[in-house]
Order: sequence, then structure tokens, then C-alpha cells
Amino acid sequence: MVNIVLLGAPGAGKGTQAMKISQLYNIPHISTGDILRDNLERGTQLGLEAKKFMDRGALVPDSVLIGIVKDRLSEPDTDKGLLLDGFPRTIPQAEALWDIMDQIGKKLDAVIDIEVPDEVLVKRLAGRRMCRCGASYHVIFSPPEVEGKCDHCGGELYQRDDDAENAIKTRLVYYYGQTYPLIDYYGEKGLLRPVNGTGSVDDIFNKISSVIE
Ligand code: AP5
Ligand code: MG
Repeated sequence: MVNIVLLGAPGAGKGTQAMKISQLYNIPHISTGDILRDNLERGTQLGLEAKKFMDRGALVPDSVLIGIVKDRLSEPDTDKGLLLDGFPRTIPQAEALWDIMDQIGKKLDAVIDIEVPDEVLVKRLAGRRMCRCGASYHVIFSPPEVEGKCDHCGGELYQRDDDAENAIKTRLVYYYGQTYPLIDYYGEKGLLRPVNGTGSVDDIFNKISSVIE
């Protein structure tokens, strides 16, 4: 059983790597971004609230996110381990996660920080195409076999609203202001495992798996 947090800037490859890690270790991939987008699609109250923040690249308030994660971590599939992608993203979220894990008798094993330079992040986000099944493609770096269609499920690919140029800039500002301090936070707890996030998807995945082993 392994409990992991994936840390990294927007476009670092968290979602791409998370899909592979969760398959290999058979643990649920818990992406707060995916949970919010799913609510948005279903038109729930939560989705409508979150949309105002997400579309411009801002963070959704801590209280909302902490509630979502608390509920999700109480589901039985997390008994075999878990992989958090996109949470925590602020110090208050990290502190809340610490308490939640404590309450449910779990412990974090590692916080993997995927490090990628800004200019690469921007290129990755600008060319990203998503499928509703969770798969992520890139028009140049990892195109699907058939243009506009998902290799896994055949679904129609789309571009995220927050992958527009201005929203990408805002997301990076929030990342450096709010999320970057988590590197020191987890460093001090002895949990931080930095991984170079440039290179091929498979190379990065191999580095992450050796960190987990
Ligand atoms: P979220 O969905 O978490 O977005 P993000 O953190 O901005 O990260 P991304 O999903 O954009 O990037 P990624 O690291 O997953 O990269 P990917 O693998 O897709 O959050 C969205 C929004 O929701 C937030 O802005 C906020 O509003 C809200 N939110 C969510 N969680 C929150 C929280 N905890 N608190 C508050 N608000 C929250 O890869 C990117 C691209 O690069 C793809 O095209 C991919 O194919 C390509 N790629 C990946 N790896 C490689 C590689 N090695 N080489 C070449 N290309 C690659
Ligand atoms: Mg993602």
C-alpha cells in the first residue's frame, strides 16, 4: 500500500504520470481538477461555483477543496493506497490533508515533485488536448493515432478553457505564490522526492517508479 502526492506546476505532467502510476500500483488516481471539471460538466452547484475561478486560472477556495478531498478519502477504495494529483496546492490544504490522513489512520509515503522549466510548461499546456476519460494528449509531443480522437476510448478530444494564454499565465502566478511553498513544507517533513520532469513520458515514469520502490 502506498499513499502518494504528485506535486508540480500546471503542465508538469501530473495527470499523464498519474494515469500510469495508478495502473501500475492499482491505486485510485484522485485529481481535484478532474473532480471539479466533472462537476462542471454535470452542472452541479459546486461546478458552477468552481467555474468562476477555474476559467481564469485562479484557485478554488481552500474550504471547498478540503471538503471534496475529505469526502473522497473516506471512500473504501483508498484502503489499498491513493495518489493525489493537484491537491494540496496551498499550505492550509497541506495542513488539512495532514489532519485528514491522521484521522483515517493513514500516512503519506512520498511527495513527488515533477520539476519542469516554465517555457516547457507553457508549450505543453498550449498544445494539450484532453479526453473525458482522463487521457491527455499533445498536438506535437504525444498526438493521438487519429486526430481529435482518444486512443483509449475513441472519445472526442477537447481543449481545456484554462489552457488559453491568459489563464496559463494566471495559473503560473498562483503556482509560484501559493503552491511552490509546499516544496519546503514537505522538504522539512522529509517526504519530498524531486524528479526531473523533462524528457520522455516513459523516462519520467521510470524515475518516479524507482522513487516509489
Ligand atoms: P488541475 O486540473 O489540477 O490543473 P493544473 O495543476 O493546472 O495542472 P494540469 O492538469 O494543467 O497539468 P498536468 O501537470 O496534469 O499536466 P498533463 O499531464 O496534463 O487544476 C485545474 C484548476 O482546478 C486549477 O487551476 C484550479 O482552478 C482548480 N483546482 C484544482 N485543484 C485545486 C486545489 N487543490 N485547490 C484550488 N483549486 C484547485 O500534461 C500537460 C501536457 O503536456 C499534455 O498535453 C501532455 O500530453 C503533455 N506532456 C506530459 N508529459 C510530457 C512529456 N514528458 N513530454 C512532452 N509532453 C508531455
Ligand atoms: Mg492535470
